[in-house]
Amino acid sequence: MPARASPANDPLMTFASDVTLGLTREKQKELPSKYLYDELGSVLFEAITLLPEYGLTRADERVIRRSAPETGRCFGGALIAELGSGSGKKTRHILNACLRGPSLTYAPIDLSATALAVCAGQLDNGGIEVHPIAASYLDGIGRAAALRQRKQKLLVLFLGSTIGNFDRKGAVEFLRKIGSCLLPGDGLLLGTDLEKPIPKMLVAYDDPTGVTAAFNLNLLGRINRELGGDFDLRMFQHEARYNAEHRRIEMHLRSKADQAVTIPGAQLRVSFVCGETIWTEASHKFALAELPRMAAEAGFVHQQHWIDEEWPFAESLWVRVAGP
Ligand code: AVJ
Repeated sequence: MPARASPANDPLMTFASDVTLGLTREKQKELPSKYLYDELGSVLFEAITLLPEYGLTRADERVIRRSAPETGRCFGGALIAELGSGSGKKTRHILNACLRGPSLTYAPIDLSATALAVCAGQLDNGGIEVHPIAASYLDGIGRAAALRQRKQKLLVLFLGSTIGNFDRKGAVEFLRKIGSCLLPGDGLLLGTDLEKPIPKMLVAYDDPTGVTAAFNLNLLGRINRELGGDFDLRMFQHEARYNAEHRRIEMHLRSKADQAVTIPGAQLRVSFVCGETIWTEASHKFALAELPRMAAEAGFVHQQHWIDEEWPFAESLWVRVAGP
């Protein structure tokens, strides 16, 4: 019997139900940040990484280059899986450092087949066997773990501070789930953006060029394109805020007027009062001291870290310990 379309197996229905859930919330309307990355959104994010105000990606790359020799000493010959297909450019340093013998298997995990194809294209040479896995992060790690040879270690890469999109409790829960897919001695290389002066954080998410504003507004454009919505993008304003209690940058879209929007694909009509916002993303910032604590809570030991001095950013190497 053919599987019936249900939110569980139809991406468009899942999108519609997530939009409905988020926009009918009583107090603060919100939309999940993962929907920022359609084809246009992914290109806009690539542009963000080139902004002088957004130092995060360059810091990540510098610190990866510095940490690679030690990562290679600990995980030479390991099977390497990456959450998010990443850019071949920065992952390459780690792969080269871990290459032993004729080849190394690299399993990028991403929901987007397009992103995986780009990644495979960037890396398909020089002894790297790319094994793309189109799946959610946790399903993907399970499938990557099944690729390991006898006694081979698994090293999971979670770079670029994507972990910052989870709230703090959710982050530890997610990291613990990753840990439960691993064996003692396996590794996790985790990138985290560190706290820095507030103006510096704010301008990284509200650049004067307007690229981040476009990235944020594109989420409403995506609802229009995929769900037939009639958002007038000019009637919403990008906003970046620092939430000191939660130590995170939040992106919002602020309604410039009282207005109503219809979204046929979600069978939804929503009204906005002037000044009300839709919360679209959280980017948590970390203190160095909390990282070993997070590691312990998630079933790892924090073995080592590297810091970028120019743009405070940490790369941590965690090793899975025996236990639940
Ligand atoms: C890719 C999730 C790490 O939170 O800094 C960039 C996304 N949002 N500018 C981040 C993003 C706005 C980015 N991450």
